[in-house]
Amino acid sequence: MIGFMASINLSTRMPKSATAYDIPVTSDALDQLSPDHRRSADLGGFEGKLGQTLVLAGSADEPIRVLVGLGPRDELNQESLRAAAAAYVRSVGGHQAVACTLAEAPGPMTPAEAVGAVAEGLGLASYAYRPLKTDKPPKLKKATIVASGPGVRAAFNQAQAIVRAVMLARDLVNEPGGTMTPVAFAAKAKEVAKESGLKIQVWDEKRIAREKLGGVLAVNQGSTHPPRFIRLDYVPAGRSQAKVALVGKGITFDSGGLSIKTSSGMMTMKVDMTGGAVVLGVMTTLAALKVKVSVSAYIPLTDNMINGDAFRPGDVFRARNGKTVEVLNTDAEGRLVLADALSLAAESKPDVMIDIATLTGSVSAALGTKIAGILGTSDELVRRLEDAAALTGEKVWRLPLPEEYRKQLDSNIADLKNIGNGPYGGALVAGLFLKEFVAEVPWVHIDLGLSAEADAEDGVITKGGTARGVRLLAQVMRDW
Ligand code: BES
Ligand code: MN
Ligand code: ZN
Repeated sequence: MIGFMASINLSTRMPKSATAYDIPVTSDALDQLSPDHRRSADLGGFEGKLGQTLVLAGSADEPIRVLVGLGPRDELNQESLRAAAAAYVRSVGGHQAVACTLAEAPGPMTPAEAVGAVAEGLGLASYAYRPLKTDKPPKLKKATIVASGPGVRAAFNQAQAIVRAVMLARDLVNEPGGTMTPVAFAAKAKEVAKESGLKIQVWDEKRIAREKLGGVLAVNQGSTHPPRFIRLDYVPAGRSQAKVALVGKGITFDSGGLSIKTSSGMMTMKVDMTGGAVVLGVMTTLAALKVKVSVSAYIPLTDNMINGDAFRPGDVFRARNGKTVEVLNTDAEGRLVLADALSLAAESKPDVMIDIATLTGSVSAALGTKIAGILGTSDELVRRLEDAAALTGEKVWRLPLPEEYRKQLDSNIADLKNIGNGPYGGALVAGLFLKEFVAEVPWVHIDLGLSAEADAEDGVITKGGTARGVRLLAQVMRDW
């Protein structure tokens, strides 16, 4: 791991080394105080709202205490505990070792659920991408969750697996595109596959050509970095309940190609391999979460660059499934590499396929930067994602795949063109394009859009790559 994160521990007792601990406060508790009491308590605006904190000074040999707002008691859930833990860990960043009693806050959750949520909140919010900063890393080294109860240790360990997977994905996303090349991504994938007991296969450019991944080759044409294609396999310990394929867009940098982006549009485009990083992250959690389904991952990797060999608007390539595609905009490149990956995944006849990608800006015009769009052919799979979103707080909203828009993808000279006819409904047209490559396999596409990147901290989100989707997909897999 190259990012920084405080080490999170679990203990039944308050650790002696901690120089700070928290006092969880629901907003109802403060509502019960009379206005006079509230004034005399001098809570400086602290109302127990979710995410609010108030640091109470300690003394030479007394740890400081931090009031941590939980919001209304009857709205308490795992998501509010995660947010409260995140707010707490940010308020004690100047300490080396802190304790956290949040998991013992009263609420409808079991101790195990509460410990899991708090471990995720503390770990994820303390993450920072640090290898390129010369000044000292954050001070906070250790946060100890004080809790006991049935199943808390197992829940803690599972949360740790998820946090580590998110960190891995954030590290991959945050590393600059100039060094996080397809070859570098594949090397990291080999390393983590070995650690997590996953089978891995990495195809180089020659194999990619032999396997007829025409979309990956087309996008890679203008690059000096060769492409890679990764396949990972997880096989459950017992009898497998189902066969799932995960596909992640792995564009290590998206300049737009000859249909070049603006300089501001290109600024964050190292995040364009978030889908691939998320899929790799999820794969590392499956054994720890005792997932009962077989999962295969497909990650096409290339950057989208420009040189004299770059693919041109008007060029046509043949995708893995035999369909020809006229590329009228080289910036609609994600769908081209996904076309190959989905075709290939469908050949293994999985029960379902899920792809995740920073596919369009358009999805964020509809849903903003904190909700991902989901589009697909399976109502049941959509429901699984919606249920997992409710538990993890990684929000999704279903968008349609309107048949009447399909003709926008008709090309004059090929089977398909890669863009629609105008600026509207871009996320839907992109979804319709992908649908041409999923054969008969029930499928859902997750378009992360701008939610892959954050310009401000917010709960478990840290600045930069969010790696949104790791917790969502891990939840889908563990609930199967
Ligand atoms: N990677 C981008 C989409 C994107 C943009 C993700 C901003 C996150 C933030 C994708 O490859 C792209 O350029 N899409 C185009 C498609 C268009 C040319 C049809 C878009 O959305 O503008
Ligand atoms: Mn693009
Ligand atoms: Zn892209």
